Amino acid sequence: MSAKIISGTEIAKQIREELKKEIEELNKKHGVTPGLATVLVGGDPASKVYVGQKEKSCNNLGLYSKRIDLPGETSEEDILALIDKLNKDPQVHGILVQLPIPKQINESRVLYAIDPAKDVDGFHPVNVGKMVIGEKCFLPCTAHGILELLVRSGVQTEGAEVVVVGRSNIVGKPVLNLMLQKRPTGNATVTLCHTRTKDLAFHTKRADILIVATGHPKTVTGDMVKEGVVVIDVGVNRIGKTPEGKAILVGDVEFNSVKEKAAAITPVPGGVGPMTIVMLMKNTVEAARNTVVE
Ligand SMILES: NC(=O)c1ccc[n+]([C@@H]2O[C@H](COP(=O)([O-])OP(=O)(O)OC[C@H]3O[C@@H](n4cnc5c(N)ncnc54)[C@H](OP(=O)(O)O)[C@@H]3O)[C@@H](O)[C@H]2O)c1
Repeated sequence: MSAKIISGTEIAKQIREELKKEIEELNKKHGVTPGLATVLVGGDPASKVYVGQKEKSCNNLGLYSKRIDLPGETSEEDILALIDKLNKDPQVHGILVQLPIPKQINESRVLYAIDPAKDVDGFHPVNVGKMVIGEKCFLPCTAHGILELLVRSGVQTEGAEVVVVGRSNIVGKPVLNLMLQKRPTGNATVTLCHTRTKDLAFHTKRADILIVATGHPKTVTGDMVKEGVVVIDVGVNRIGKTPEGKAILVGDVEFNSVKEKAAAITPVPGGVGPMTIVMLMKNTVEAARNTVVE
């Protein structure tokens, strides 16, 4: 068997088309242009790329984008003052602080300072708590993107054995929570694995749907999965450069061996990555919609 490729690039494109209509309607009916503020502290090269992609995506969709680049030595006081200003700015519906931030700044204090109504990353404890109990909230973009990939590819989660590898707050734990929700796009039996899991392959072999987010290439290889599994590879690992100087990216799953057994698999790049960005746009549009009275 050779797996069907679940293309995040294609699905993200569909969602962008849907968003364009919503944005147009918000504009026409209410005179509102959804706005996203992105805050980058310091010059981490990967973070610069991510912020640049988010800015570009805003521009392509016709969203208002406010980018704030701060020097690496910025104090916590200054960044908290900036968040306060953005919380009060009516043109800004969503605020994103690109992580990681420099060590002199307490990350939690910064994330908790963002108004939950503008927390389009879904990292504020109010949104995290609402997600856990199944209330409407901003869902973390990568986990939400994974859910959309499954739903729009026609993969049933209801009753499925879902195995998640990785327990980070931004990927593994939210994915676990979404898959557990008592609704048709959840209703899965979920196992969460991490570095202290005794026999990883025992769990991955049981998976109908396997979601891997470890940050290590080849965490899962072909001999660790069963025939017909659906695999979502979240990992982005830079393993070198092409002669032209472009980064060579691979996921956390050994694509070539796993695709021979899987029913469907996401590629890297072009899988989860494009979904994360488009779900951020979707949350920003939703944040803007929440401010208008229908
Ligand atoms: N495409 C996207 O949009 C997107 C978004 C976010 C992240 N990512 C990528 O996804 C990957 C994971 O990101 P993250 O932020 O979740 O990483 P993270 O915070 O470093 O967490 C990694 C998790 O994987 C677990 N782990 C590591 N090696 C393992 C192994 N061999 N067996 C079992 N568990 C293992 C760790 O276990 P312990 O808790 O026990 O240490 C930890 O829970 C990275 O490659 C990242 O670049 C991609």
